[in-house]
Amino acid sequence: MHWHILGAGAIGCLWADFLSQAGHQVSLILRNRTTLEQWPGDGRLEITEANQQHQTYCQLETPDTEVPVRHLLVATKAYDTLSAMEAIQSRLQPEAEVVLLQNGMGQQQQLLEQLKDISLWTATTTAGAWLESRHQLHCVSRGETHIGPLTQHSPLLPSGWDTLDITLHPCPDIRPYLWRKLAINCAINPLTALFDCRNGALIETSERQETMRRVCREVEQVAAAAGIELFPEPLEERAAAVARATGDNFSSMLQDIRHGRRSEIEQITGFLCEQAQQLGIAVPVNLSLLQAIRAKSPGKYTR
Ligand SMILES: NC(=O)c1ccc[n+]([C@@H]2O[C@H](COP(=O)([O-])OP(=O)(O)OC[C@H]3O[C@@H](n4cnc5c(N)ncnc54)[C@H](OP(=O)(O)O)[C@@H]3O)[C@@H](O)[C@H]2O)c1
Repeated sequence: MHWHILGAGAIGCLWADFLSQAGHQVSLILRNRTTLEQWPGDGRLEITEANQQHQTYCQLETPDTEVPVRHLLVATKAYDTLSAMEAIQSRLQPEAEVVLLQNGMGQQQQLLEQLKDISLWTATTTAGAWLESRHQLHCVSRGETHIGPLTQHSPLLPSGWDTLDITLHPCPDIRPYLWRKLAINCAINPLTALFDCRNGALIETSERQETMRRVCREVEQVAAAAGIELFPEPLEERAAAVARATGDNFSSMLQDIRHGRRSEIEQITGFLCEQAQQLGIAVPVNLSLLQAIRAKSPGKYTR
């Protein structure tokens, strides 16, 4: 099986390793020729995991190469999905298998509308990874990954994924899992960016706890109206437990804002607010968070 990976960042390189270790051929599609020319080495990835190091080799290419794409993993940030896909669309073979592995919601539906004749899956993961440099990857955790098809008649898993050495949960209906991840992200990420604090600091003062509680109540109302069951316990309890368990971490949204990068706020709180509007539910706390984070983030805010 030949898997192409669009988005050779931390998660893309992590999956390049998983797919490669499972015996698949892997090609990383880099943004452009400049990125290709600046890429260190010859496609070697150096992976550090649990104080052990190993290497994986990938082929490197740019979007304009003519190699047909039959199996594609998309691991860009959510807001880059459509433009990145557009650049390789002509290479996608009929009935190509495409997997989206990203945070956030909205981009999945947009892609379904843009591309016909593909088999599409979406996945959400608790894995954690970061890049020390382009080709030096640190795997913090392999986590657990939920995946499910978004197109009718697609099997539960894409080709070859049954051999990956990760905890993979195939889900006939992936939507609730995407919503659960979205709900936790709504409860934690924008607030850490707003207060410029670690996750754990969100539950250290009664004022911040109260803000998180109000965010969570709105998210629960929208999810319920969308027919989604979130968690057995109230979202505020689950979100507080996650904030406690990841207390020392800086959320990706806070890191993006601190580094002047665009954040995924539109695909997280933005998606939630859009759903609320369609369902006729008022979400004033989430709306004001959306505006506050937009004001702190660079970039264009169209979804
Ligand atoms: N990292 C984690 O631990 C983690 C965990 C769970 C979920 N996630 C989610 O996974 C997704 C990816 O996260 P990440 O941390 O891997 O992000 P990342 O390190 O920023 O990687 C994104 C990659 O996409 C590339 N890209 C963007 N547009 C492209 C285009 N048009 N053509 C080719 N490549 C393009 C970027 O290239 P350039 O560098 O050239 O811009 C970058 O290498 C996000 O939705 C994130 O929220 C991440």
